[in-house]
Amino acid sequence: MNHRYHFGLIKVDASAVVLVGMTHSVVLWGGSLKEENIIKPGAASGFKHIPGSSGLPLFGHTFQFISDPIKTTLKLYEKHGPVFRTNVFFLDVVNVIGPEAVKAVLADPDKNFSSKLAIEAFVKDFIGRAILARDFEDHRYHRRIMQSAFKSGPMKTYQIRMTPHIALGLSRCEKDRYFLFHPFIKRLSLRLASEIFLGLEEGGDLDTINAALVTMMNGAIAPIRLKIPGLAFNEGLVKRKVIADYISKLIVERRANPSMDMLSEFCNAKSEQGEQFSDSDIIDHMLFMWLAAHETTTSLLCHVMYRICQFPEWQNRLREECCGIGKAAIDYEDLPKLEQMDWVIKETLRMHPPAPLTMRTALRECEFYGYHIPANTMISIGPGVSHFLKEFWTEPEKFDPQRFSSERAEDKSHSHAYVPFGGGAHTCIGMHFASMEAKAILYQMLLNHSWQTPEGYDPKFTMMPIPKPKDNLPILMKDLPRRSRLH
Ligand code: HEM
Repeated sequence: MNHRYHFGLIKVDASAVVLVGMTHSVVLWGGSLKEENIIKPGAASGFKHIPGSSGLPLFGHTFQFISDPIKTTLKLYEKHGPVFRTNVFFLDVVNVIGPEAVKAVLADPDKNFSSKLAIEAFVKDFIGRAILARDFEDHRYHRRIMQSAFKSGPMKTYQIRMTPHIALGLSRCEKDRYFLFHPFIKRLSLRLASEIFLGLEEGGDLDTINAALVTMMNGAIAPIRLKIPGLAFNEGLVKRKVIADYISKLIVERRANPSMDMLSEFCNAKSEQGEQFSDSDIIDHMLFMWLAAHETTTSLLCHVMYRICQFPEWQNRLREECCGIGKAAIDYEDLPKLEQMDWVIKETLRMHPPAPLTMRTALRECEFYGYHIPANTMISIGPGVSHFLKEFWTEPEKFDPQRFSSERAEDKSHSHAYVPFGGGAHTCIGMHFASMEAKAILYQMLLNHSWQTPEGYDPKFTMMPIPKPKDNLPILMKDLPRRSRLH
């Protein structure tokens, strides 16, 4: 049976009800929600004993949440403590906030909380059986195999492949006049992903596949989840099939002749126990990589750029660090030398986490923090909210990269105080990849160019579906005077 909800004159099926969930901070709306997973809207079903409220009639806390999920959740945390209920996007949700409580859900020693059920409720059509849609032993099996594509050998190769594309992207930037940084960096990061994940070269199928990927990703986050031709959701699914068929053909080639890309790694990866992926596993895992990697890395780089323009002293410090390395582009071995850049990236991820919240579903009735949690309860976990708690950070509202230096090490105040990449079994498998890509791009950007935002620039940020400056970050790139240039 399908639930039908009425919103004014609009009548939709439960499978099309606008819901929200978050993985990688992409707000994933809607999805084919199964009857047994539906928590009835409105009255806090079965967990009224948990502190909190259902907010406004019908809309609950949705509007506050859309405008700023971190600030909204922080306020409620201050009022109710680490576990409280809200109603967001017509769903009653139990929120878990603060390092200790977040750790308890993410570590999940009693196997009470499912990532699979939570993510399937939102994006099943798009992610198939991707790794985030797997739990416990099944998840561990896939993660063991996938891990080999992120070891230092393949990572070095990915880094080498990135270098010329970053240089080419930069050479196409307009100099001495303002351009929008967000679309620029989004194109560059898509280009890098297609090169590294699938080994697609300039020309050939690259443009067709990149265009299909953009349509697929827009479909995955589309608010209206109906399979009607012309709607973004439906077009996204059509393109997903196109890309899946394309990858399917590439798998045959890469199994026979491995190349230096992630697809080849997946085709030939074996865990220490000798386990391997099937073709359909590879397709689901590859497609999820884009959803996981692309928008998050774009969001990170956009916010780093904003911050180093806001604090030119940090821009200069990073440039000096780059000049100290003294080459046109970095190698994998140079990454640890960029210590201050590491602090700036970390501080940006602390203040602007691309994935501030993530979701799980209670598999069974359980006790959590002394509260009874009914089966099928949607749990919203806020790792990113911990980044603003005064108990763990000095002046959390201040941009202060130095807090990550070994002398201060504020991120070490609790194992889950700093968790931009999540924690527990589903911790981001691409966290080093993301940091490597960010460093490789920033290095080339800073070496011979200066960057600035307009005088008195004070951007507003959209938080959903993924954090970014509302105006796409106007930016001015200038060549550095010859004498201070390295190349
Ligand atoms: C700044 C960039 C990134 C951020 C902030 C980020 C954040 C996260 C977070 C918070 C999770 C855990 C989700 C959960 O527990 O529900 C996650 C999982 C994941 N991420 Fe990332 N991510 C980033 C970049 C990447 C990149 C570049 C890749 C791939 C190259 C990637 C691949 C994945 C995958 C496959 C998972 C699922 C892991 C599993 O289920 O075992 N991510 N990411």
